[in-house]
Amino acid sequence: MKEKRKGMQRRAFIKTAAAAGAALSVAPTMTFAKNKEESKVRIGFIGVGGRGRSHLNNLLKRDDVLIPAICDIDTKAIDASMNMISKAGFNNPEVYQDGEHAYEKLLSRDDIDGVIISTPWLWHTPMSVDAMKAGKYVGVEVSAATTLGECWDLVNTYEETGSPLMILENVNYRRDVLAVLNMVRQNVFGELLHARCGYRHDLRAVKFNPGVTFGEGAKGEARWRTQHSLKRNADLYPTHGVGPIAAMMNINRGNRFLTLTSHATKSRGLHKYIVDHAGEDHPNAKLKWKLGDIVTSTINTANGETIIVTHDTNSPKPYSLDFEVQGTQGLTEFDYYNKRIYVEGISKPHHWDEMDDWLKKYDHPLWKKYGEYAAGSGHGGMDFFVDHAFVETVKRKALPPLDVYDAAAWSAITPLSERSIAEGNSVQYFPDFTRGNWIKREPVFALNDEY
Ligand SMILES: NC(=O)c1ccc[n+]([C@@H]2O[C@H](COP(=O)([O-])OP(=O)(O)OC[C@H]3O[C@@H](n4cnc5c(N)ncnc54)[C@H](O)[C@@H]3O)[C@@H](O)[C@H]2O)c1
Repeated sequence: MKEKRKGMQRRAFIKTAAAAGAALSVAPTMTFAKNKEESKVRIGFIGVGGRGRSHLNNLLKRDDVLIPAICDIDTKAIDASMNMISKAGFNNPEVYQDGEHAYEKLLSRDDIDGVIISTPWLWHTPMSVDAMKAGKYVGVEVSAATTLGECWDLVNTYEETGSPLMILENVNYRRDVLAVLNMVRQNVFGELLHARCGYRHDLRAVKFNPGVTFGEGAKGEARWRTQHSLKRNADLYPTHGVGPIAAMMNINRGNRFLTLTSHATKSRGLHKYIVDHAGEDHPNAKLKWKLGDIVTSTINTANGETIIVTHDTNSPKPYSLDFEVQGTQGLTEFDYYNKRIYVEGISKPHHWDEMDDWLKKYDHPLWKKYGEYAAGSGHGGMDFFVDHAFVETVKRKALPPLDVYDAAAWSAITPLSERSIAEGNSVQYFPDFTRGNWIKREPVFALNDEY
């Protein structure tokens, strides 16, 4: 029954993708609907804080989306969202804000096709599981899960219900990331050997806001995110780095993560920040932070590559995802501020090349087609693409390009790194969330020019 439903989804996908391909040659307004009413998808929002409103902003620009309901427990977040919705000329949605489980009422509506979940990390899996059980398409923010048990909950629920889940990893759609994926697929670097990636983002002013406050009385992510640094020594946020590399290495699709070892430095940055901003006598200066300032994990893949993943959020540093992709023919190191490439036989021996011409030459078809829509969508345009992919898969009843197995394998880095560090950098084994199917699953991410 399960397989039958998935088979039907795949056939429906192939059919509608071909039909929609013609309809999607669009004019420079956000015109995606085939006709006025028929193809609108109905998306509910759970969590409309900073990130949820960024998704909302992107969907409000489209003519193929209706927003029947939103949910958040924070009145200010609801008010700001209602304001955006009415300014965009959409009908007022039903609001669910009465308690932490109000989202369940939103899920019980039968006029919602999909939900976008942008809540604190500990809510991602419970909400995703409930949404899949309610028969909704799920778009869940990163990371999708915080324990191995939650990773399995996502996979098991998907397999039981057949409701697709997409992990909303926007960095997979960054223009340079997609261009490098294109280069990998066109064999510019030869056979892949190694990659480096991570999340190196000075979040001290996010973790403490205002002043050195976190938890109750704080603002934004300081209300919930900081607590994880107090309690866990792990790579808390692996997917922005590892998602793009996983796509380049076909993880869960002919390849998979096998093992991981992690190392953590001592913890200094958050304590220092508190002392520097509020003095040694501030009560928060007495706290003992578990999270090492820099957590470094090394992953081995089934196909014999290694990946170094860094988590580094408590020290002064310009933002960097620290990408490096290396193969038998050459390599690239690329980031917002620093991009270079070396390809044997093309580059002057032992000299790096500038990357601009390479990025233009290998610009991904998705960016060529939709680049103009992406302006203003957030994070340099990549946010347009992740929301577009979610809406299009819901609309076509297709399987998402970044799926529940990706969500589980990438998110598993947090609990596995935690255990490795706790056990003196012991080797950890990734569960095979695909139950052996990685051997025959085919790559799908960014393999068409539609989404
Ligand atoms: N992909 C990206 O680039 C990106 C950027 C920022 C944040 N994020 C992720 O998005 C998620 C949300 O982050 P944020 O920055 O928006 O945080 P936020 O604190 O600004 O927003 C979270 C919202 O969830 C609401 N919420 C909490 N519990 C709820 C519940 N039980 N029911 C309904 N609403 C609830 C809060 O009131 C808040 O408005 C996090 O997982 C974060 O890691 C991703």
